[in-house]
Amino acid sequence: MSWKHIFAKKDLEQLLAEMAGEHRLHRVLGPVSLTALGIGCIIGAGIFVMTGRAAAEDAGPAVVVSFAIAGLGCAFAALCYAEFAAMAPVAGSAYTYAYTTLGEVFAWIIGWDLILEYAMGCATVASAWAKYLNAFLLAISGNKLSIPPQVLSDPLTPVEGFDGTPWFNLPSVLIMILVTTVLVIGIRESARSNAVLVLVKLTVVLFVLGLGWFYVNPSNWNTIPYSDRVLTEETKIAAQGKEDFAAMAAAREVAKMKGKSKQELQESAAELKSQWSRELAPLKLDSLRKQLAANYRLEFFQAEAERLQKSGKISPDQARESVVAVEKKVRDNLPKTEAEKSVVSRLMPAIHEAGASKAAQSWGVLGLLGLNQWLLPIDDAMRSPFAPYGFSGIMLGAAIVFFAFIGFDSISTHAEEAKKPQRDVPIGILTSLTVCTVLYMAVALVITGMIPYPSIDTHAPIATAFSQKNAPGAAAIIALGGLAGMTSVLLVLFLSQARIFMAMSRDGLLPQVFGTVHPKFRTPHIATIVTGIAICLASAFTPIKKLEEMVNIGTLLAFVMVCAAVLMLRIQRPGVKRPFRCPLIWIVAPLGMIVNFSITLFLPLDTWLRLLVWLAIGMMIYFLYSRRHSHLTLHLLREIKTPLVAEEE
Ligand code: ALA
Repeated sequence: MSWKHIFAKKDLEQLLAEMAGEHRLHRVLGPVSLTALGIGCIIGAGIFVMTGRAAAEDAGPAVVVSFAIAGLGCAFAALCYAEFAAMAPVAGSAYTYAYTTLGEVFAWIIGWDLILEYAMGCATVASAWAKYLNAFLLAISGNKLSIPPQVLSDPLTPVEGFDGTPWFNLPSVLIMILVTTVLVIGIRESARSNAVLVLVKLTVVLFVLGLGWFYVNPSNWNTIPYSDRVLTEETKIAAQGKEDFAAMAAAREVAKMKGKSKQELQESAAELKSQWSRELAPLKLDSLRKQLAANYRLEFFQAEAERLQKSGKISPDQARESVVAVEKKVRDNLPKTEAEKSVVSRLMPAIHEAGASKAAQSWGVLGLLGLNQWLLPIDDAMRSPFAPYGFSGIMLGAAIVFFAFIGFDSISTHAEEAKKPQRDVPIGILTSLTVCTVLYMAVALVITGMIPYPSIDTHAPIATAFSQKNAPGAAAIIALGGLAGMTSVLLVLFLSQARIFMAMSRDGLLPQVFGTVHPKFRTPHIATIVTGIAICLASAFTPIKKLEEMVNIGTLLAFVMVCAAVLMLRIQRPGVKRPFRCPLIWIVAPLGMIVNFSITLFLPLDTWLRLLVWLAIGMMIYFLYSRRHSHLTLHLLREIKTPLVAEEE
């Protein structure tokens, strides 16, 4: 088998010929159903959950700008998707597009990458679903009824107010079992249930906008001093035990030791750690945490005021005033006795070092390339009460809320089930994306106007905003809408994943069993059940924040590749019939690549590393299994010519 076969491309003509074959999916979806599928998949955990986290911790009120940037990246990609989907309306979406343009190995990479978007996206939404179920129970019971914390979250994400470690996320497993069952039964039923859920969630989003508007206080957008912003380092401090503090301090001291052997260093570390443990033993953990956090905040903002004053952004008086304001806020928690002061001041350098690595993360991989020194002034220049976290915060916010847009592309995975794919798929993609972008920006404005951004809840922010305003009835309705919204996202994302597996198995890159269509239901039932089990496990045990970042980075890169693929096909096959032509392709496709790739740069390094591991696993499977079973490779080896059936312009 030769190496060149891994770059073999599938003919567009071959694709179209396959569409006419046996065992295809039913063509039952019209433009309205397709748009509903799009909206069904787009509005979900992103707006109901991630908006809160991005507003509170990453972008502040400027999260509305983050939405605009993420929406722009998606709009460019959507136009490219629409061109491709209209040209080759077969199941498989970006995977199939790559197969015809970039070659088999790239198709495999995208297909593997799309598992992150669809299957892991489902796991993320299922995990957020649990938080909304809890918010719903709290709202209807007057805070008396809630899900036991042991089964509300994965073991790595602590539950607020619960000191133990959660076991697993039970509600997410239950909802996934339900969704898997519905999908095995069939697309017609799924499209119908999806339409109902879409109606419910659109009504709820409009309800949020209508009612929320009355609670908006515009001063929340532009008067909160940026020294009020959330420092995630404080949350980290609040999660550490005495042993962690001791280990942190010891490690820092050991790092400074020179000329010692590995064994000597280990011994010193153990000795220093036990010294620190003895010193910390008489202190109360809770007050130690508070003192460290308060001190951290004060020192952080002192340094910032100094920097801003030096660069001329604020006057010496303003710098003094801002430090005094911070001092006033944290005064009660600062260390009081001499012993406390001594411990805290000696622990602070280790805490700051951890904080510095976090600050570097705010510029994602760019920060870690050592560019942080130069990038920080950009943040400082842009910092304002509206954009308290500066430029990097807005971009990180875009990388987070990008999740809210995921799904418009899933319409293209359903192209094979569209009645008139060439017309309806572009309509579905563009309409659903436009509607959702407008709604998102409006919701972001309302929520940040209702609640000062540092106090926005990060688990179920939209429903909780109304509880915070003493409107539990509204909170219950919104929580219910959120549940419906997320359920429809689960249905569509999951449906798309099964379609992609099916396309990959038809090509021989995955075992045939993934492509088996049920004789009665006409659904890829085996792929659905296997995927359902994997999603249940991921949502039950994996931390939602990290899952979400993986989903986003995977999807953003898939978008970059789709933009590249559409452009390449214009060059390689200018004459192929294109029922929908992306306007200004020479501008739109490159911009799509630039914007989406730029957003990935603001995600933390660990997310990039996880992605590389994921891709490495994918490549192993490709070389050990897929490449050997690929129908295209086997076909090329037999040197069979494919009949040309596509119409040339
Ligand atoms: N866009 C989908 C959501 O926000 C994935 O839930």
